[in-house]
Amino acid sequence: MGAKYYLSFLYEKCIKILRGNSIQSYRHDVEAIFCDVFGCSWSELQIALMNNRGARITDEKSEQILACIDRRVQHQPLQYILQKAEFMGHTFRVDGGVFIPRPETETLVRLACSYIAERIKGVHNAAYASTDMHRDTNAPVVVYDLCAGSGAIGISVQKEFGNKVQVTLVEKSGIALEFANLNCLNLFSDSEIRPKCSKDDALTFNNFPERPDLILSNPPYVPPRNLPPELSFEPKSALYGGGKRGLHFIANLVPHAFSLLQLGGAFIIEHDEKQGDGVQEIFESAGFTGVVGYKDLNDRSRFVFGVKWHTDLPNSSIPPAPTFSH
Ligand SMILES: C[S@@+](CC[C@H](N)C(=O)[O-])C[C@H]1O[C@@H](n2cnc3c(N)ncnc32)[C@H](O)[C@@H]1O
Repeated sequence: MGAKYYLSFLYEKCIKILRGNSIQSYRHDVEAIFCDVFGCSWSELQIALMNNRGARITDEKSEQILACIDRRVQHQPLQYILQKAEFMGHTFRVDGGVFIPRPETETLVRLACSYIAERIKGVHNAAYASTDMHRDTNAPVVVYDLCAGSGAIGISVQKEFGNKVQVTLVEKSGIALEFANLNCLNLFSDSEIRPKCSKDDALTFNNFPERPDLILSNPPYVPPRNLPPELSFEPKSALYGGGKRGLHFIANLVPHAFSLLQLGGAFIIEHDEKQGDGVQEIFESAGFTGVVGYKDLNDRSRFVFGVKWHTDLPNSSIPPAPTFSH
């Protein structure tokens, strides 16, 4: 029996189905599904759509594609359908039960990379020299990614700096931690330093071998409000921060992060666009100094940075906040 669909016919049919079901990213999603099923690049797909529109597609591949389209019509996130998400140029395995890393979180990673690079270059040495906080500039920078999910933040930082950092991923959900472990296995060779994975409650754990120099976190912070249907497929414990403004989790996490950090260490957190002032206040009440907010690519306040510093030293002496511009 001959194959049922020609390439161009199936492509147009899928576009029509998603557009007709109000999936705004219909063209992108159809092309991503085709590329995944055919194992080709986006450019290869474009060339085939231009030059080989009459190519017949096997029934098996057509069924695979239509099954993915059917799931997308039900608003399942594309990343769950394809079981992968791109983040900082790496492909992370994800599936139901683990939060999908978002592009805006790449700004948090870039802030962290800018801070670590300056620390490694010795830019912070002058600040430490004026105190009793000594730093071995050859020792790896100890980084904790709290609420690590798939490991996107911490793994990206470890990939960027190799053995100059030692990252620990802390995650409470067993399923999410399995994905973090899998991503560590997939994205590092045996000869590379991999992040350590730790199944712990980020709000209470304190059994760590070394105090962190830098803590990073994209915690649950979503305030109670109507969310796009795609979000109903993601774990609720990854999303909602609790309380009227969604700040309950962050209000508990910030003082705990402060207690974990070694003196001179820094914390960078992601938050909702309406929480900037509230999160900066929480940082200051917890004892952080040099508290600064940062915006995402859409000019929305989304990140806060602060340093754990001697209370009797002037703020002017603290290591500089990361310099970063989009
Ligand atoms: C918004 S997701 C972020 C995941 C990942 N950092 C990222 O940016 O893709 C929040 C994560 O926090 C985890 N989480 C929630 N409560 C936690 C807790 N008390 N301790 C550790 N992890 C927690 C969730 O399971 C989820 O993986």
